[in-house]
Amino acid sequence: MKPFTFPKNFLFGSATAGVQVEGGDRNNNWYVWAEQGHIKDGSDILRAGDHWNRYREDVALLSQMHHQIYRMGIEWSRIEPEKGRFDEKAIAHYREVIACLLRNNIRPLVTLHHFTYPIWLDKEDGFASKQIVTYFERYTEYVVEQLGDLVSEYITINEPNVFLLNGYVAGMWPPGKKDIPLAYRVFVNMSLCHIAAYEIIHRIRRQRHFPGKTMVGVANHLRVFDPLRKGHTLDHFLAEKQQFFFQDAFADYMTTGTLPFPAKLCVPSGYEGHYADFIGINYYSRNIVNAVDLTTFVQPDRPVNDLGWEIYPDGLRILCETFYERYHLPIWITENGVCDNNDVLRVRFIAGHLRAVKEAIDKGVPVERYYHWSLMDNFEWLEGESARFGLVYIDYESQRRIIKKSGKFYAKICENGGCTEDLVKEYHL
Ligand code: NOJ
Repeated sequence: MKPFTFPKNFLFGSATAGVQVEGGDRNNNWYVWAEQGHIKDGSDILRAGDHWNRYREDVALLSQMHHQIYRMGIEWSRIEPEKGRFDEKAIAHYREVIACLLRNNIRPLVTLHHFTYPIWLDKEDGFASKQIVTYFERYTEYVVEQLGDLVSEYITINEPNVFLLNGYVAGMWPPGKKDIPLAYRVFVNMSLCHIAAYEIIHRIRRQRHFPGKTMVGVANHLRVFDPLRKGHTLDHFLAEKQQFFFQDAFADYMTTGTLPFPAKLCVPSGYEGHYADFIGINYYSRNIVNAVDLTTFVQPDRPVNDLGWEIYPDGLRILCETFYERYHLPIWITENGVCDNNDVLRVRFIAGHLRAVKEAIDKGVPVERYYHWSLMDNFEWLEGESARFGLVYIDYESQRRIIKKSGKFYAKICENGGCTEDLVKEYHL
């Protein structure tokens, strides 16, 4: 591998999400989902990484690993535990976490919604509720009033497409629906929640003269969709359609408030505008699409992670280029990581994906940041504690944290702003 160095202003960090690391939240729809026995290893969100109590230790790890940026989630279910009642203690806790990051010169990027929500909202149909935009506006307003002086950068919604697909089409995640008309309603509602939140965050921070440049966007789960048989018309057609329904529709509607013709006829109009200051890309894998078997995405000869997802670094370059060409906005890699329980894949995974990012930069794409998923092992939704994505190992029993070899490798990259084959060899097991 040829050595590569990032531009001086490129920022490195990692990401987590509230429920996946905090522990202790019984007021959340994923607590109920786990109680109902849906988690494969029988774990729940009560334990996770106990980050709620151990955040100081975790911020010290971020600092030790030379992070400049950190993406964190805040939990709606903690902040608004009952409809219309906001919990001052919960928001004060998040202020403390953020202040601790800032004291360590780590810039926070705060996610408002990362798959989960309060139980009271679940009872009101969650994102299918007619009131959801009002509820999300009220929550956003409260958060930005309370945290906006410390935080200038926000992700409104994480991976709306994954939330929609798993919760309303496949029925595997809460609320466990398989209902296409309902999924369509949630698609519109989530997009309108984002658009409203985008405007609220900008308005409040402007009116209150809060410091720092306001940056708001979505963390889009993006994949590459390739036809299995090159030149096979049906495979190509299906790859294009999958791509549109899975990711392009959300990205377009949330970024521009409209869709290309004829799809624009199917969504509420009157929102045409500009609702993103960056394009957030969460990148993990690609789909190989074929007309014969629509459920198999990975071909047998491809390298995969512990969950069977293809490892395809060049896909990240392709997505950076495609999405820059489409929206002409800076690109932030808001997540990229690998399920690798024995830490044998992660060093090469990081090196390969960062090289792909650098190639996009060399082609003129303004990729500005990279947040590795994840800082530490955490509660991986249906997989529970069994799937490890962390740079830091968590012993869930003792809650002991140990920086993995790949974590030390990534720390070197954060420190030096680049990578060499010697560095890879030094840390690759
Ligand atoms: C993306 C999601 O945002 C995150 O919550 C999840 O843990 C990772 N993908 C890995 O599956």
